[in-house]
Amino acid sequence: MLILGIETSCDETACAVVENGQRILSNIVASQVDIHKRFSGVVPELASRKHIELINVVVESAINEAKVNLSEIDACAVTYGPGLVGSLLIGLSFAKALAYSQNIPLIGINHLEGHIYATYLENPQLSLPAIALIVSGGHTELVEVDEWGKYKLLGRTIDDAVGEAFDKAAKLLDLGYPGGPIIDAFSKQGKPDAIKFPRPLWRKKDFDFSLSGLKTSLIHFLKGQTPANIEDITASFQEAIVDVLVDKTITAANDIKNIILCGGVAANSRLKERLTTEAKPKGITVYYPSPKFCTDNAAMIAGLGYVKYLQRNFAPLSLNANPNLKLGIE
Ligand code: KG4
Ligand code: ZN
Repeated sequence: MLILGIETSCDETACAVVENGQRILSNIVASQVDIHKRFSGVVPELASRKHIELINVVVESAINEAKVNLSEIDACAVTYGPGLVGSLLIGLSFAKALAYSQNIPLIGINHLEGHIYATYLENPQLSLPAIALIVSGGHTELVEVDEWGKYKLLGRTIDDAVGEAFDKAAKLLDLGYPGGPIIDAFSKQGKPDAIKFPRPLWRKKDFDFSLSGLKTSLIHFLKGQTPANIEDITASFQEAIVDVLVDKTITAANDIKNIILCGGVAANSRLKERLTTEAKPKGITVYYPSPKFCTDNAAMIAGLGYVKYLQRNFAPLSLNANPNLKLGIE
């Protein structure tokens, strides 16, 4: 079964062909990072315009690289939310046209569910239930995954997303964009306990997160002009985030012995290392994708499309983009 997946929810134009939900025949990602870099964030209008320019070429490349004919594709899976509405609409409209013209089913995919599935792509031994921590530029959610398609939302950020916090901190420190990988790299040379940044909502008994106060405290720290090198600042800032994420995720797991760490920030080396070492004595295994499947890609969309295909979970051609699409019941 060959599924073609399309992903355009933010600033990556991506298309992949995946066989039976596991074997990746092609995975093309056209990043727009160079366009958005000078604004230190994604500009929605520029993103959707670029998707229009790129979508044809990206889909064609994915089909060519997979060495298949369009007529061999069994279904077309596409992200329809959450994300930027203008961006989502480009991928969705393209997918609908493709499904209609090829007379194949259209499958609507929740981007967050796609991020969770990305972990399974490379870890087929991963069994459910699991606790998933989805951390990206737009999302910070802690979710119980009972089975594919059945989720319970345990907590989420009440303000900034984790990736957004990394990106904003890097901007304040004048380090470049996107900030996450840069802060990750600088932090390796720094002392994580050099500066005491706050750990918002750390001891609170629920699973919500708050990141904007941490950003404010970085602003205050920088105004205060206490001497500190950049590596110590980034390492301490990163540690404050990692402390809260690790603690809440392991507490949420409790009797559930699998943790899925996914989304762009799952590429963070300190987060992976601490979550894995602290979960181990509790008999919990942590799974995460390799970096290229942490950030936005279409292999995760096509892979999950196979699961939905088996469930006969097809979408009508009237499917609309839903920028605020949620995952699971609260
Ligand atoms: O999943 P993604 O590609 O896009 C969204 O759906 O938002 O995530 C992008 C985010 C950015 O905020 C980026 O700074 C962050 O993931 N990121 C990282 C790392 N690599 C990417 N954050 C921390 N450490 C990293 N190594
Ligand atoms: Zn994403």
